[in-house]
Amino acid sequence: MSNYNASDRPSIKELLASQGPLADVSTQGWVRTRRDAKGLSFLELNDGSCLRNLQVVILDGAGLAEKAREAATGSAVRVRGDLSPSQGQGQAWELVARDLEVVGPSGPDYPLQKKRHTDEYLREIAHLRPRTNKYGAIMRLRGEMAWAVHDFFRGRGFLHVHTPIITGNDCEGAGALFRVTTLPEGPASPADEDFFGRPASLTVSGQLEGELLALALGRIYAFGPTFRAENSNTARHSAEFWMIEPEAAFFDLADDMALAEDLVKFLVAYALDRCLPDLELFDRFVEKGLLGRLEALAKADYVRMPYAEAIDRLSGSGDGFAFRPFYGCDLASEHERFLCEAVGAPVIVHDYPSSIKPFYMRLSDDGRTVAAMDMLVPRVGELVGGSQREERLDVLSRRLDELGLSREAYWWYLDTRRWGGAPHSGFGLGFDRFLMLLTGVNNIRDVQPFPRTPRNLEF
Ligand code: 4AD
Ligand code: MG
Repeated sequence: MSNYNASDRPSIKELLASQGPLADVSTQGWVRTRRDAKGLSFLELNDGSCLRNLQVVILDGAGLAEKAREAATGSAVRVRGDLSPSQGQGQAWELVARDLEVVGPSGPDYPLQKKRHTDEYLREIAHLRPRTNKYGAIMRLRGEMAWAVHDFFRGRGFLHVHTPIITGNDCEGAGALFRVTTLPEGPASPADEDFFGRPASLTVSGQLEGELLALALGRIYAFGPTFRAENSNTARHSAEFWMIEPEAAFFDLADDMALAEDLVKFLVAYALDRCLPDLELFDRFVEKGLLGRLEALAKADYVRMPYAEAIDRLSGSGDGFAFRPFYGCDLASEHERFLCEAVGAPVIVHDYPSSIKPFYMRLSDDGRTVAAMDMLVPRVGELVGGSQREERLDVLSRRLDELGLSREAYWWYLDTRRWGGAPHSGFGLGFDRFLMLLTGVNNIRDVQPFPRTPRNLEF
């Protein structure tokens, strides 16, 4: 039973979707459970192609009883047999084995025995947890949603670009940078002797480079990993996460907000349309009523609310917030939650005070606010952060000065305003946070295959 052709080996997803019985087919996977009965054994086989298992029936008469006993929970097996209408309940098809090969044995010490494990325990065995129903489903949803992101932008004339992972700038100005260096540790390591001859770091956002490309190519988007050394050990922050960052020339803030709303709705509708079996798992076991919430999310009108109004609403709510909201404060997660719950839909807060936003956002005529927007969604809080960018050379130069940032360091950025500067806008959508919204999972560590958080880097 070796030398298979790929086409000879349908996935379990394909087998379960079969329109009729199939004689003598081969497949493979990992044993989820084995049940022995009088005269036969059942294997529940999963290969990751879908949530459901294939039931394999092994009749003692087939001469496979001994091999079947070796097929312990967790073992990898190949099986050849006949796909037949199932005698049992719960599945249309089962595979009646003719031949069985235990390719990789397992044993009673396999950590994923049949019982429900806590998320905390599963984080400790992140190398094995993709073999559970829940984490398998999350990985399939991640993959499908990444595909959907490309589908969305491609259909709207946005070009997929690659922004660098190693950069020499701190886009957000928050100083949460991971340094990239080839120098040995220690004080005697001046940056000019380093690999690039200057400090380098992992990108916190591809935005600035994305702007350069949008000012040549029109509509672009980047979709890649970003890195932040924020030591905030929360359920929504990760040191490595994926961001979707569109940037479009001749887009203003209203266009930008509409694009973000369209994207979120498209992704949710796509998942409901194509990933229902996996979503149903989360509806049953993670968040009751998830599917109804997602259907509403795909249809709702997302509310636009100026920051000043958001602060008024929060101040007037009489709610005992741990952080008292005031004009000029960053919204805390309790504020974000309150706003979404009060409105009952995602809220896009816009026109923030310039004092709490980075240098690149376009200054409004009032001289106090910038054309910024954050999309806040129930449960997750901030999902999207974006803005119209400052395209006026003089205003941008003044803003750099005010913030103590050097014009020389941003010469390339200023050049694009010097020649052919055009209004443009973009945003960043946190892909991992989107998956939290989609699944009801409330910890970012549980929607990432291998989460990177403070003091957590097992491999
Ligand atoms: O609001 P942020 O910091 O915006 C930017 O970086 C812009 N330069 C993006 C742009 O305009 N092109 O981050 C954007 C989004 C947040 O709204 C959030 O969803 C996510 O990225 N995010 C994080 N997700 C997980 N862990 C973290 N530490 C995150 N920090 C931001
Ligand atoms: Mg933000």
